[in-house]
Amino acid sequence: MNSVSIIEKKRDGEELTPEEIRYFIKEYTAGNIPDYQAAAWCMAVYLKGMTSQETAELTLAMAESGEILDLSDVLEITLDKHSSGGVGDKTSLVVLPLVVASGVPVAKMSGRGLSFTGGTLDKLESISGYNVNLTRDQFIEQVRKYGIVLAGQSADLAPADGKLYSLRDVTGTVPSKPLIASSIMSKKIAAGAEAIVLDVKCGLGAFMPTVEDARELARIMVDIGTNAGRKVTALISDMNQPLGHAVGNALEVREAIETMRGNGPSDFVEHCITVAGHMLRLAGKSQAADLSDIRPALEEKLNNGEALEVFRTLVRAQGGDVSQVDDPDRLPTAPVIVEVPAPRSGYLETIHARKVGLAVLELGAGRHRKDDPVDHAVGAVIYHKVGEYVEEGEPLFAVHARTQEAARQATESLLAAHTWSERPGLPLFYDMLTNVAES
Ligand code: URA
Repeated sequence: MNSVSIIEKKRDGEELTPEEIRYFIKEYTAGNIPDYQAAAWCMAVYLKGMTSQETAELTLAMAESGEILDLSDVLEITLDKHSSGGVGDKTSLVVLPLVVASGVPVAKMSGRGLSFTGGTLDKLESISGYNVNLTRDQFIEQVRKYGIVLAGQSADLAPADGKLYSLRDVTGTVPSKPLIASSIMSKKIAAGAEAIVLDVKCGLGAFMPTVEDARELARIMVDIGTNAGRKVTALISDMNQPLGHAVGNALEVREAIETMRGNGPSDFVEHCITVAGHMLRLAGKSQAADLSDIRPALEEKLNNGEALEVFRTLVRAQGGDVSQVDDPDRLPTAPVIVEVPAPRSGYLETIHARKVGLAVLELGAGRHRKDDPVDHAVGAVIYHKVGEYVEEGEPLFAVHARTQEAARQATESLLAAHTWSERPGLPLFYDMLTNVAES
């Protein structure tokens, strides 16, 4: 077997054997296949696609390129969620406490922000002292003791994905459905997940521009789960406009805390309840496909402080300053806060999620390169949702910036992200695919 013949075979649109896929991934991870050959192979996959059998094999080969975490003697069921990335997506901060407060412990590994999308770890690090770098033993010990852990991914998990992802990032091969699906699912399988809720975003601020693309990606990931013996539910959700109002690390933590105090924005509350409900359904805590039996209990846990209490436990367990949870005014605050009025009256037609994400990235909330520092205080609060009527002069958004000049530039970009007309609002979810039988 050799790497050139494997590249040629894929280039010519043929199906690779499991042995060829495993050989290629093993040798690339070991450094025996150079980046230029792996890049050619990724491009061949991008152009010719993969069968579901090939994608499943690729996923397992990447998952098995490093350690596979086994939490079965700590957790009854290893439950996980994954968002394909979005703007204002602080869902894990609320969903994990909500699921844990409902009686199912969760151990989750999350990522950092990439480009215009935010990352859960950067948000959590807005809280002074919060430690995302746990060892494997600390990770396991924490979930055993407190029933919740939310930390960074260890380098030993799915190292093939780490290498391939950086390569895809610079070779125009990120938006390949088999490559995205195997990247996401290999990490989940390596982290030991037995049941996974996937939040597949589509729209202006997502990798998948249309519902059809997102549905196809979701279908591939559900099939991978079926092949690997994992329960998977994929929700296809809107990412045309930011989720909730806050975009930026500490601002999003604040909004998550407000949500767990019963004061969350309605789209974000609905999103969290839906994701948490499906996680509980996969864990066997709910039977109804429409979540009607579990919704009231989830709403109550958001409103009566139970979810917030679990969040406090999480923050304390990972060394964070709980006084910032009790008083979010103590979270990092930007020195310049500018409220910007609507330049005209009308219905909001678009609040372009990617443009909002990029404006907040430019304020310093995200990074251009992997090791850039992140400014936790800066960001934007977008006051309205698509479809709402706004009067000229009414507050449209607030910019939280380090300097007046940064605020001025962000104001310009955020005004350009808003367009106006007479249209109804966007739906929150478009579809659901699952390999779990309806009861
Ligand atoms: N998220 C991932 O983890 N991998 C991809 O390829 C795309 C999004």
